[in-house]
Amino acid sequence: MSLDAIRRVVEDRLGFDAEALGESVLGTAVTERRKAVGVADLSSYADRLKRDAQEFQALAELLVVSETWFYRGGEVFPYLARRVAAVIGTGRVFRALCVPCSSGEEPYSLAIALSEANLPPAGWEIDAVDVSPRAVAAARLAEYREFSFRQCPAWVRDRYFQRTERGWDLSREVRERVRFRVGNVLATPPTNPPGYDLILCRNLLIYLTPNARQRVVDGLTAQLVPDGWIGVGHAEPSAFAGRPFRPVGPAEHFLFSRSAVGANAVPRIEPSKLPVPVSAPLPPTCPSPRPVSNPTPPEPPKAEGPNLACARCLADAGQLAQAIAECQSVLGTAGPSVDAYLLLGVLHQARGELGLASDTFRRALYLDPNHAEALTHAMLLSEAAGRLEQADSFRARLARVAAGDRP
Ligand SMILES: C[S@@+](CC[C@H](N)C(=O)[O-])C[C@H]1O[C@@H](n2cnc3c(N)ncnc32)[C@H](O)[C@@H]1O
Repeated sequence: MSLDAIRRVVEDRLGFDAEALGESVLGTAVTERRKAVGVADLSSYADRLKRDAQEFQALAELLVVSETWFYRGGEVFPYLARRVAAVIGTGRVFRALCVPCSSGEEPYSLAIALSEANLPPAGWEIDAVDVSPRAVAAARLAEYREFSFRQCPAWVRDRYFQRTERGWDLSREVRERVRFRVGNVLATPPTNPPGYDLILCRNLLIYLTPNARQRVVDGLTAQLVPDGWIGVGHAEPSAFAGRPFRPVGPAEHFLFSRSAVGANAVPRIEPSKLPVPVSAPLPPTCPSPRPVSNPTPPEPPKAEGPNLACARCLADAGQLAQAIAECQSVLGTAGPSVDAYLLLGVLHQARGELGLASDTFRRALYLDPNHAEALTHAMLLSEAAGRLEQADSFRARLARVAAGDRP
């Protein structure tokens, strides 16, 4: 028997695109768990997974990618602090949800930015959710290794952490500002009444099947206040295709505001026609997911010559400049390709190099004028730059592609 039945359970419950996750990642995890519980064959293990929630959890821990660090996306946190100040100014308490929160670096970064902005503590609340009990336990413990600060301004660590023998302990004032819980974003019922002003859902959608991505965005949208914001990772804006959202703030922050459906909504695309986001999931040649407690950075795969898998690994580890260099080498050696231009464009955008990002998406569109993800990126960048006519033209092209009407 193959892994198919197990793959279906994983896709159904976690939404993971198990096929793209790599036969070897799933296969290795299943072998490890079968050994641990003493189940000899795949079919019995598949049955066990369906009825034993604890065993499913144990397998999930081996599949999740817990990669995160403080101030990931840098300037987005001070930018969000300004939004929080504006909402508090109206007399409302600002409520944020961070899902997935992994080992806590992201929600704590938000809490630190809000403390830095001297916002009244009674004016804001942060909830944080992750499917991995191990990650949530690490988040509650709030003891971090050097690796968690790999792209974080030094003053953050100096001001809010204390050096210990094990690493760095987060100050109690910040720790107490975030409420953590274990939860599956695919299964969590919306709060009633919906009440989040901001949901950060970064670097999860890239690992999901198109259907799961749609379900997650539907569920999160239902939890937002009418003018609430959602923040996603740099490779994830295409999840907003067809939704009543418009980009807000600098394009490199990947923030979207909920708004009435209208001219600015991104045209709807059926889940099956949605492009697979460019930077994920990790290709099979990449290192397997790093356990939360392991402070060692993953090594990008050693391959002969430049390749996109390596560029994606570097991007996932936050090494954007190296990832760009790798993409450029791929283009130099293998020649132009849509995938390489798309990844390069996303990387430029993540670094705030918006002119370069626009040019690069155009190159991708030159090779494939109907590429939905390239069209989405190009449209959002034009809109963010105030080039509304150009944005409309990309939107119209995207609508034609969505309708299956390929020009
Ligand atoms: C790459 S980390 C992203 C953390 C953080 N948002 C960031 O961008 O740095 C992905 C996290 O998603 C969590 N995760 C995966 N599937 C999930 C699900 N269905 N519900 C909630 N969390 C999930 C994993 O446990 C992992 O901690």
